[in-house]
Amino acid sequence: MKRVLLSMAGSLIAISSQVTADPFGVYPFKIPEQYRAELKGYRTQWKRVTGFEHSGLHWQQFIVVFLNKDARVYESNYLEYLRLYQDYDEDEDEEEPVPNFKSYSEGTIVLKENFSAQSGSPHEALTITMMIKRQPGYSPTHGDWEYVQFDNQGKVLLAGKGSDSAIQKVCASCHESIKERDYIFANFYSKSK
Ligand code: HEC
Repeated sequence: MKRVLLSMAGSLIAISSQVTADPFGVYPFKIPEQYRAELKGYRTQWKRVTGFEHSGLHWQQFIVVFLNKDARVYESNYLEYLRLYQDYDEDEDEEEPVPNFKSYSEGTIVLKENFSAQSGSPHEALTITMMIKRQPGYSPTHGDWEYVQFDNQGKVLLAGKGSDSAIQKVCASCHESIKERDYIFANFYSKSK
């Protein structure tokens, strides 16, 4: 009897440690030195606003999005995007809704992890792309966002303003199309606790 109880206790411990183990406690990307302070603990201490989402637009990768603050702006813009583009039917005789998007405050970092896909699941950690809302005047024609991309070894591939020609080509040309949403798509959202 004693042995049975002991082995039951053992499996309970095994189960509870499985339940509490947080997959986001693991950091699959190396963070570049110059962003280490700003990104400290982002997987466990920031707000994660999506699960692993399959992104058709981003080369079939899986993505996960985190914000250090202003997650409410992201949520609100996501809901507004749904209201505008899913409820509104151009063919019907209804008035076009007026968009009510909000802007992010200085210091907001929107970070997106990108994973390759294999057999329909996230596979290898590839890159991080992020946008950092710098101080007013940093890049006034492009929403004062800094665009950054680095690989899983922490090598910075790109960093700069939306007006820089490399950034324009590789990042900003797309994000500019949603200027009214403060350049952040927010087209995936799942509420976490
Ligand atoms: C082909 C157009 C396109 C290009 C180029 C592009 N993005 Fe995006 N980006 C998107 C879309 C669309 C989303 C929303 C998520 C999705 O559908 O994949 C997104 C999402 C993001 C997000 C998460 C926040 C949000 O907008 O929802 C960040 C951060 C981001 N991109 C940064 C970058 C950076 C940095 C670059 C350049 C290295 C870049 N993007 C290049 C279209 C683009």
